[in-house]
Amino acid sequence: MIIRGKANKFKGEIRVPGDKSISHRSIMISSIAEGKSDIYGILKSEDVKRTIEAFKSMGVSILEYGDRILIEGVGLKGLKRAAGPIYCGNSGTTIRLLAGILVGQDFSSTLTGDESLSNRPMDRIIKPLRKMDGKIAGKEDKYPPLEIRPSQGQLKGIEYELPVASAQVKSAILLATLYSKGATRIIEGKITRDHTERMLKHFGCELVSEKGQIYMESNQSLTGQEITIPGDISSAAYFIVAASLINDSNIIIRGVGLNPTRTGILKVLDKMRAHIKILNRRMVNNEPVGDIQIIASKLKGISIDGKIMGTLIDEIPIIAVAAAFAEGKTLIKGAEELKYKESNRLAAISEELKKMGARVDLLADGLIIEGGNELEAASLNSYKDHRIAMALSIAALLANGESKIVDHECVNISYPNFYDTLFKLLD
Ligand code: S3P
Repeated sequence: MIIRGKANKFKGEIRVPGDKSISHRSIMISSIAEGKSDIYGILKSEDVKRTIEAFKSMGVSILEYGDRILIEGVGLKGLKRAAGPIYCGNSGTTIRLLAGILVGQDFSSTLTGDESLSNRPMDRIIKPLRKMDGKIAGKEDKYPPLEIRPSQGQLKGIEYELPVASAQVKSAILLATLYSKGATRIIEGKITRDHTERMLKHFGCELVSEKGQIYMESNQSLTGQEITIPGDISSAAYFIVAASLINDSNIIIRGVGLNPTRTGILKVLDKMRAHIKILNRRMVNNEPVGDIQIIASKLKGISIDGKIMGTLIDEIPIIAVAAAFAEGKTLIKGAEELKYKESNRLAAISEELKKMGARVDLLADGLIIEGGNELEAASLNSYKDHRIAMALSIAALLANGESKIVDHECVNISYPNFYDTLFKLLD
């Protein structure tokens, strides 16, 4: 993909595709609920396709009509053994949450992934699921493929303090608790996205989530629901930053999820002095939603620490781009988890921004970015990581000259129409 720099203003109104995290959860929870679920606004992307295919392979009827899908729930015990290994592609959410459901089944499963996923840590779910007496193993007890054996009704609830701030780990434990004897208590040191908790409640499951602890009784049942999925703030983030940086821009992004466990990007941009307004705040299926208006402004560098990292974990690459064009220094600390994403995102973004002439220092747990100088076009490596490709595309729009984004197709993982929307805003 070739991107011409020195872009003119961004203008107009857009919608971004459905939230990826909520899309995965809606398919998983609807599949194991009793009765039908009708889901509107699902994200149609490679990662979500992996979750749909996984449940189809275990006998769930899923009918797709564009971004609306109908799922005939089979109940907690109604899944059937898949004919072969379940391929989770690039999707960490698919493999980790699915493992939580599969340890509770009376059949064996194998979960595999692509090259990137095959090198991502799974010990973080293997440990707590084994503590629940789940029979799960991975390559070197750490990586996919994951081999899961029948639990024979032996799963038990646990008390577990999360050693890494991870919504995927928390969710795997909560989903396994649906199949356990005895309650589970999870202690979270730092905030992470709470879509699993909200969606389980929406399906009739009782759980209490307060002051960094989640308490859930076992032996609960789920009832099929209608769900409307909000736009993904992680996808909106690229356009929020672009509209902030490109002179004279003024855009509105309609129907974006504003769950407070996800809005760290808005807090950070506010501190950087972006002009962002939230319009039409509302609640949809237990999730806050609103429209976001962004007007161009002069951004200033700031410090970001580990406390809010879980609320903007996927936005660090685009925040790094904002920092490269902001006046002054930005310090990002407590972001070591970024090394274990679809690529090592700290190394990837720092390397590629440096190619463009940005002043970036890579730290063990973050970045120091001295912003404000002009960037030059370059041939930029996406590392086949969707969030790196999209963040670099925005950097390229602001640079001098024409940049190339190598392997840009990886945007299909979370945002297949990313470039159409980007070019529409430039029209
Ligand atoms: C996700 C949780 C986060 C995030 C990922 C989606 C989820 O991962 O980076 O893109 O849907 O639960 P971790 O739980 O590993 O931090």
